[in-house]
Amino acid sequence: MQKFTYCVPTEIIFGKDTERECGKMVKRHGGKKVLIVYGGGSVRHSGLLERVEHSLEEEGISYVECGGVTPNPRLSFAEMGVKKGIEEGVDFILAVGGGSTIDAAKAIAHGTANPGVSLWDIWTKKESLTKTLKVGAVLTISAAGSETSDSAVLTNEATGKKLGLGTELNRPVFAIMNPELTYTLPKYQIGCGIADIMMHTLERYFIPDQKNRMTDEIAEGLLRTVIDSGRMAMKRSDDYDAMSELMWCGSLSHNNLTGLGREKDFSVHKLGHALSARFDCAHGATLASVWGAWAWYVWERDIARFAHYAKQVWGIERDEISAAKEGIERTIAYFEEIGMPTSISGLGIGVLEDETLKELALDATMNDTVRLSLIRPLSAEDVLEIFR
Ligand code: NZQ
Ligand code: ZN
Repeated sequence: MQKFTYCVPTEIIFGKDTERECGKMVKRHGGKKVLIVYGGGSVRHSGLLERVEHSLEEEGISYVECGGVTPNPRLSFAEMGVKKGIEEGVDFILAVGGGSTIDAAKAIAHGTANPGVSLWDIWTKKESLTKTLKVGAVLTISAAGSETSDSAVLTNEATGKKLGLGTELNRPVFAIMNPELTYTLPKYQIGCGIADIMMHTLERYFIPDQKNRMTDEIAEGLLRTVIDSGRMAMKRSDDYDAMSELMWCGSLSHNNLTGLGREKDFSVHKLGHALSARFDCAHGATLASVWGAWAWYVWERDIARFAHYAKQVWGIERDEISAAKEGIERTIAYFEEIGMPTSISGLGIGVLEDETLKELALDATMNDTVRLSLIRPLSAEDVLEIFR
C-alpha cells in the first residue's frame, strides 16, 4: 500500500425528502445569498427547483437562478455564471442537477471568488487557485460523482478542449442525495451513469501496484453492487433500493476510496473526453464505447490482474488466460445489456475517417506528449489503434 491522504469533507444527507434540508444546510454554512445553478429544465419540470427554493425561503435565504447548463458544460456558460454571481453579490453556489450542473457550479464558485482572473487560466493552472465560494449540491443523477469529488470538467468551445481541474477546493460542502429524484431519468442516462460509476473504479483498479487488498475488496464489492443494481434500475427506474445503491456507489466510486494506496489512471476518460469535446456525446457512453478496445489492447501486460477481476467481480474461476478474456467479454456484454455503445460507431456519430481518429488520438495524448495507462503506456499511435 502506497502512502495516501484521505479527506472527504462533504457532508452527505441521504434519503427520501432530503431536499427539504437544503435551506438549513446553506444557512449552517453561512450562505445568505445563493446562486442556484441548474441544467436544461428537468429540475423545473419535476418540481424539485420549487421545493429547493421554498426550503431556502423558509430559512430567510435569498437567491437568484442561473439555469441552462448543458451536458458537457461549456466555459462560456460558467463565465456567464461568474458575471452574474459577482453582479448579484452571492456568497454561496447551489447546484441542483447532475455532474454537468455541479461542475459548472464549482467553476462559477472559483470565478466568483476570484474576480478579474480568467477562468480558463485557473482551469489550465496558469493562475493558482487559493480560494473559492462554498458549493452545495442536490443530486439528480447517479453518475459522475461530482457531488463529493475533487474534480470538475469544462469544455472550452473556442479551443475544442474538454479538461478536468483537480483540486480539494472542488469538494462541495454538502451533498443532498435523494434517490427518488433519479426516478425521472431516461434509461439512456441511467445506462451512462452506470458505465461512468463502473469506470471510476476500473480506472483505479487496473494499475500495476496491487498489494492493496482492502482497497481491492471495496472496489470489487462496489462493482458487483453497481452491476446488480444497474440491472434492476434498467428494468424499473422507480426501484428505490436499486436507485439508492447506484446513488451511493456513484459517490464512493469517485471520491478516491476505491483507489486508496495506489496510483490512479484515467486513460479511458482521456479517450472519452476527446470524443465528447469533438462530438458532444454523453460522457458515460463514450467510456463504454472505448473500454473494450482499451482492455483488449492492454490485457496481456497483466493477465493475472484481469483474471483476478474476472473472479472477484464476475465469479469466473478458470485458468488465468481464459478467465481474463471472459472478464473482458462479460463487461462488454453488460454494457450492451444496459444499452451502452461498445464501439465508437455506436455513439451515433457515424463512421469516423482515419484522419479524425488521428486528431482524437492527439487530443487524448496532448499531442503525443503524455503516455496514458500505467499498465501499458499508450502513445498517440496506440490510442489511434484503440480508436480504430
Ligand atoms: O439538464 P437537465 O434538464 O437537468 O437534464 C439532464 C441532462 O440532459 C438529465 N437529467 C439529470 N437528472 C435528471 C435528468 N433528466 C431527468 N430526470 C433527472 N433526475 O440528464 C442529462 C445528463 O446530465 P449530466 O449532468 O450531464 O450527467 P452526468 O451526471 O453524467 O454528468 C456528466 C458530466 O460530468 C463530467 C462529465 O465529463 C460530463 O461533463 N464528469 C465530472 C466528474 C467530476 N466532476 O468529478 C467526473 C466524471 O468522470 C465526469 O468526467
Ligand atoms: Zn467519468
